[in-house]
Amino acid sequence: MQRVEQEIARLIDECDYKEVTRLFSTLSGGKRLRAKLILKIAQNHKDAPLLAAIVELIHAASLLHDDVIDDAELRRGVPSVNATEDSKTAVMLGDILYSKAFTELVSFDKEVARTIASCVTALSKGEMMDVKMSESFNYDEKLYLDMLYLKTATLIEAAAKASALLVDKDASKYATYGRNLGLSFQIIDDILDITADAKTLGKPALNDFVEGKCTLPYIYLYQQLEDDAKSRLISLHKKELDEVDTIWIKDIMKKYKTVEKSFELALKLSNEAKSVMHEDSDLVAILDTMIKRTF
Ligand code: IPE
Ligand code: IPE
Ligand code: MG
Ligand code: MG
Ligand code: MG
Repeated sequence: MQRVEQEIARLIDECDYKEVTRLFSTLSGGKRLRAKLILKIAQNHKDAPLLAAIVELIHAASLLHDDVIDDAELRRGVPSVNATEDSKTAVMLGDILYSKAFTELVSFDKEVARTIASCVTALSKGEMMDVKMSESFNYDEKLYLDMLYLKTATLIEAAAKASALLVDKDASKYATYGRNLGLSFQIIDDILDITADAKTLGKPALNDFVEGKCTLPYIYLYQQLEDDAKSRLISLHKKELDEVDTIWIKDIMKKYKTVEKSFELALKLSNEAKSVMHEDSDLVAILDTMIKRTF
């Protein structure tokens, strides 16, 4: 992983602008899940650390833009760039990271480069869908999962596939693993928004729903509620929640076990990923850690 950090630092240096180096240094590194995945899959390939650095730059750019889109004040436990500087700065830094990543991709085999570059289109489409869907209460599970796939799973899928291509492993098998890992990962992220306390998460409770995001536990809840309760839930959509409403939502979620039901789907997807990758204990361990994570 140290090699990846070195590559990231080199790429940032090459942008040749002190302000970029300074701003980038204010971002905390995050879990580096995508980089770890690439290093595991393409273990001994000389370009694996560079590919991992490229993917982490893309991921960082997507988060910079995501925090502007979501009006989020915190990222990785520290104030987001849109909060400490402004949204313009966050957008511009994101653009620099995206374009630097694309420039570096040119040195890779065409299929590897295409895999990573094209997923950024998918990711951006997913972000757009996420925003569109949050305008009204969405209770369509399939639509929600299609959006999740684009917004989060495509980059993880692309990271797994591209690193497999690098070392001539079965690309489609690794892509399946990455896709399921990614879907499961975002479902856990959505669950944590409900179950984790604000301090651990670094953002207010039920923030997704306040932002208009009807994640799986809300979709499953809607499906089970009587008409009156359905109307109450819809009336709270995209509103600041007081304590009474927060407790009401948490209580009925408990009653109908909608978080558990969402977790079951995350587990099922994770098990599907395991079943294609059972011979690789490191990749199985990544799934287990992800499923058990609390932040
Ligand atoms: C955050 O991804 C965005 C989602 C896809 C939920 P991570 O949780 O991997 O972010 P970092 O890199 O560890 O901060
Ligand atoms: C994931 O969506 C962000 C990207 C894939 C770019 P979220 O908006 O749910 O991510 P968090 O919760 O802010 O990390
Ligand atoms: Mg967000
Ligand atoms: Mg978002
Ligand atoms: Mg989230």
